[in-house]
Order: sequence, then C-alpha cells, then structure tokens
Amino acid sequence: MAPPLDSAIDSSDPFEGTKYRSISILGKGGMGAAHVVEHRLLGTHFVCKVLRGRHRNNPGAADRMRVEAQSLARLVHPNIVKVFDFDFTQDGRPFIVMERLQGHTLGQELLNRGELPTLEAIDIARQLLSALSVAHALGIVHRDIKLDNLFLHYAGSSRPTLKVLDFGVAKIIDGISEFAPPPPQIPTRAGAIIGTPRFLSPEAASGKSVDQRADVYGASVVPYMLLCGRGPWDDASSHASVFSAQANKALIPPSNFAKNPIDADLESIVLTAMSKDPDERFQTAKAFDAALSTVAERLLVGVRMGSSRPPPPVLQQHAILTGSDTLRLLDEQRTETALPDRGALARVPRNQMRFQLMAFTVSACASATVTWWCLTFLFHQ
Ligand SMILES: Nc1ncnc2c1ncn2[C@@H]1O[C@H](COP(=O)(O)OP(=O)(O)OP(=O)(O)O)[C@@H](O)[C@H]1O
Ligand SMILES: [Mg+2]
Repeated sequence: MAPPLDSAIDSSDPFEGTKYRSISILGKGGMGAAHVVEHRLLGTHFVCKVLRGRHRNNPGAADRMRVEAQSLARLVHPNIVKVFDFDFTQDGRPFIVMERLQGHTLGQELLNRGELPTLEAIDIARQLLSALSVAHALGIVHRDIKLDNLFLHYAGSSRPTLKVLDFGVAKIIDGISEFAPPPPQIPTRAGAIIGTPRFLSPEAASGKSVDQRADVYGASVVPYMLLCGRGPWDDASSHASVFSAQANKALIPPSNFAKNPIDADLESIVLTAMSKDPDERFQTAKAFDAALSTVAERLLVGVRMGSSRPPPPVLQQHAILTGSDTLRLLDEQRTETALPDRGALARVPRNQMRFQLMAFTVSACASATVTWWCLTFLFHQ
C-alpha cells in the first residue's frame, strides 16, 4: 500500500490513539502545527504542537521538538507558556501539550493598534526580558524572538500577560547550567542562518555563532516595533537585502517613523540593544531590563505629577517601580489620554454657563413673542 501523503497526514487528526483529540488547527509553521485539543477523559482543553507530516522521517526535526519540550518544562516562569506533556503520535511524531492561552500574538496586537503607548511598550519589553533572563541562566538562547512568537494572554484581568512561545530553534549553550536540557543530537551546521530574517541579530544573519546577546538584539526589535509600528528593515525587499542591511546599514531610529514623540533615553536604550557589535549591546537581558526600568520610573513619576517634564532628581531616586505600579501607570496613562487637558477642564464650567444664559435668553424671547401674539389676538376679537 502507498504511504499516506503529507497533506493527508496534516489534515487528519494526528492524535488518534492518544489521550487527546484535535478540535481545531491554530496554525502551521515550518516544523509544527498547533492544534487545540481536548483530553479524551478529562474533557479539558490544551494546545498541542505536533511535528508536521513532512518531517516525520526527519530525526533531527523530532529531536528539536524534544529540546523545545524539555526547555519549556524547565522554564517555569509567568512569562513563558507552560508545558504539561510530551508524547508521540501513532505514526511516531512528537507532540508537546501546553496550556491553552487566551488572546492573540503581539504581531496581531500591533496590526490592530498601529503603535503602542510608551509605557505599555516598555512593560511588554520588560516581561519579555524577564523571561529571557531565566532562559539565559540555564544556557537556553531562544533565537527566534519575534512578535508572532510572543502572545498576549488575557486571564481574567484587563492587563494581558506576555507569554513567550516557540522554543523550536533554541540553542543550548553547554556548561552554563546542569539543569539545561541535553542539546540537539544533530548540532546546527556551521554557518547556518537560524531564526526569522527581520528579527535576526547581525551575527546570526551572517551565520556566526550566537549567544544570549542575539536574544538581547531580538528583544530590542520588539520595543522598536511597538513604538513606531514597523521594523527597522521593513523596506528591504528580499532576505538577502535584509541580511546586508543588518550587517552594513546604519539603523534608522524609531522616532523617524513614529507618529508620537519617543523619549530620548528610551530610544537610546533600544538603539544600544540593537548595536551591530554584540560587545556594544547590553550584555544580558537583565542589564537591558535595568536600563528600561530607569526610564519607566522617571515616566511613572512624570505621570503621577501630571506632567511630561522629567521629575527632579530626588524624586527619581525614590520612585520604586513594581509590577503593580507598572499596571497602575498604564491605566493612568490610558485614562489620561482619554481626558481633556487641564485647560479644557477649566473651560468646561464657563462654557456651560454661556450655554445656560443663551438658553434662558432664547426661551424668554419665545415666551414674550407668544404672549404678545395671544394678547393681539384677544384684542382683535
Ligand atoms: N499555548 C498556546 N495557546 C494558544 N495559542 C497558541 C499556543 N501555542 C501556539 N499558539 C498559536 O499557534 C501559533 C504557532 O505556534 P508556534 O509559534 O509555537 O509554532 P510555529 O511557529 O507554528 O512552529 P514552528 O516552530 O514550526 O515555527 C502561535 O503564533 C500562536 O498563535
Ligand atoms: Mg512560531
């Protein structure tokens, strides 16, 4: 009998004979397909990422999925998707069972909103950097940080939590932590370019070996895009021209594209993180995060004082930003943009008085006219 076609494998339920049943397909990537599944006995829903049919005879691809599952299992962090199980379909393809997130990717968010307010962009970048610093401590480099691998998960509150997905091309750096998963059995070919072109660090784009600083670069493209609604290399028309721009072209600051002004310190931090030379970047996700937190603290104090001017240095020193402060600040910022400015607020009562005076005059004139008309009519009788 002829073997089944890859397309037939991908469209039938790959989980037949396992504890799970496919309900719908969320998407298909290069290596895997993400399904919403139901646990046959418990009735609970999860998301399963299964190796696609066309890779079923590729041991390297299957082993990469093992690395992805084991990385996720070791990375227990509020900003990283949780994994519950790892198993194989009847035809031997590995699949990862994850929590089902509610929401959409950051890519979709940017498409819906164009640009994000400064403090929201900083908050998202900081959640991402918090996840990355935990991964890097285990020697796990994600290598594919991009808006479509970052998910805004809504869990009962209006503020979404950022979740990092897709450790499908993660690199395990040997000797950093005994808790890291064993690296892929088939090492990456020297000179191979791994990741998504527009988010690649210059060293990754030129096929050089990468470390955690490649993720620092990838993480810097995120606030860059959130602040101005587009990526630095969106004008390049092919992968080759993206790679050449990454290596040689000077970076255009996001403020050149943004509709709203970008804080100068914030822009300089993002550009530092995007330095072509990894030695000139923040060396760790933690250092990048610390720099962002300083800007967030200053802006937070500015918002609390109801002014966009920088606060005096003493206040800056005493402002301590916690996660909940960031949340409050975001709410305040949204509210503030929805309200009229102070001058307009001061004008409201005076405008109301003018309106009331006019209404009174008009109604007085109208009743005088009616009275005069009635009297004239009576006298004529
Ligand atoms: N746990 C989850 N909950 C909800 N949606 C998810 C979950 N995991 C993945 N998705 C959705 O499926 C899409 C694809 O998932 P993911 O990025 O892990 O794999 P991929 O990019 O298709 O795979 P590949 O590794 O082959 O590139 C995501 O962009 C997201 O929209
Ligand atoms: Mg992906």
